[in-house]
Amino acid sequence: APSELRYDGQTVVVTGAGGGLGREYAIFFGSRGANVVVNDLGSSFKGEGAGSAAADKVVNEIRSAGGKAVANYDSVENGEAIIKTAIDNFGRVDVLINNAGILRDVSFKNMKQADWDLIYKVHVKGAYKCARAAWPYFRKQKYGRLISTASAAGLFGSFGQTNYSAAKLALVGFTETLAKEGLKYNILCNVIAPIAASRMTETVMPPDVLEKLKPEWIVPLVAVLTHKSSTETGSIYEAGGGHMAKLRWERSKGALFKPDDSFTPGAIAAKWKDVVDFSNPDHPDGPADALGLLEAAANLSPSPKTEQPSFKDKVVLV
Ligand code: NAI
Repeated sequence: APSELRYDGQTVVVTGAGGGLGREYAIFFGSRGANVVVNDLGSSFKGEGAGSAAADKVVNEIRSAGGKAVANYDSVENGEAIIKTAIDNFGRVDVLINNAGILRDVSFKNMKQADWDLIYKVHVKGAYKCARAAWPYFRKQKYGRLISTASAAGLFGSFGQTNYSAAKLALVGFTETLAKEGLKYNILCNVIAPIAASRMTETVMPPDVLEKLKPEWIVPLVAVLTHKSSTETGSIYEAGGGHMAKLRWERSKGALFKPDDSFTPGAIAAKWKDVVDFSNPDHPDGPADALGLLEAAANLSPSPKTEQPSFKDKVVLV
């Protein structure tokens, strides 16, 4: 169709593209004119083992459909080698999709150091290493598109996933900062939190649910965010089962206190309702103006003396 999004002449690196979501992205970009680097270590979903078969299979699929693709079998911890594959074969890199991932689910009580370390290495260090290697090319050509893959587990917490949640939310902070640093070079960086059927989720979700969560339904969001027409950056999106939504931070209007010795724990307790009141919020992309607010607070009268914290209205602390 004449109106379809195309990526002709661009090089797209997809990590963990030997299966699951990464495979869907790679095949899509391959079908829309891009040169695709199909990276996959070929490990199990717990991060054990390695092999070239997974990446090779996807490369063959893309090529036999008439697309351009090369395989790379490095772990994302060796990001330079993955980006080097792009440069050696296609002379450039335009889009980086940090997608590779594994799980080591275990309750916090039973977690081993290795479970924590491996999750950090693949998700956080891996995404960092790939971005670090692509960044100089993005800056030099004043063009780049980067996607980080977070998770609902990172955004909201998830039983048995302290390691994975920590790593996934780390990628949010990482990407929000990259978005700020990349802006003047037309490097746009966004976060997605997908939900889709894959070998990663097939052990935890029933078949009838998985049936409704096709991994190819995450592709349109990634396609739009990585296209040259996009202007969106520093954002978080949820996608899954035909639903897509943007998430943002919300800050309550909060309470102000005179910065003197009347600013006691009791004074906060007395205004707790205002601290947690979201009826008049803002949606910041930076910290509150602490100094400006301090100035405004200076003109208040001292907080009334309240010796005992009073949660009269039974405010629930959430
Ligand atoms: P998947 O297990 O099907 O695919 C992940 C791929 O990454 C595999 O092919 C694996 O071999 C590869 N990989 C693992 N470690 C690697 C390493 N060190 N270097 C290079 N490649 C490596 O899983 P799925 O579901 O496609 O996951 C893709 C991403 O989406 C992951 O980051 C995952 O954490 C994230 N995600 C997935 C959700 C889902 O519902 N499927 C939910 C939330 C996040």
